[in-house]
Amino acid sequence: MPRWISVFSVDDVENGQHRVVDIDDTEVVIFKVDNDFFAIENVCSHDGGEIASGVLENGEIICPRHGARFCIKTGDVKSPPAYEGVESYAVRIENNIVQIQNHLD
Ligand code: FES
Repeated sequence: MPRWISVFSVDDVENGQHRVVDIDDTEVVIFKVDNDFFAIENVCSHDGGEIASGVLENGEIICPRHGARFCIKTGDVKSPPAYEGVESYAVRIENNIVQIQNHLD
């Protein structure tokens, strides 16, 4: 059964910034872009790089290790050397609190 998990207040993160949270032992990075929030797993599918510390460009995060790109909305891979996407998570706002859905239960 999917669960919604409260992570932080919408004002805790500036536009263009991100925060990493632990969701049931999985690191998830949540980006804030134009007051929308997008959440993907924080582990590159190429070789385990920490995606969150990469550069965010045109809705894509660039893995800092070897440059693979992932869509922050869908987790889809956009550029090699990764060939598989990463997990993405639904996000909603409830009473000014960002919640993400753990659909992996
Ligand atoms: S670990 Fe991310 S591109 Fe290699």
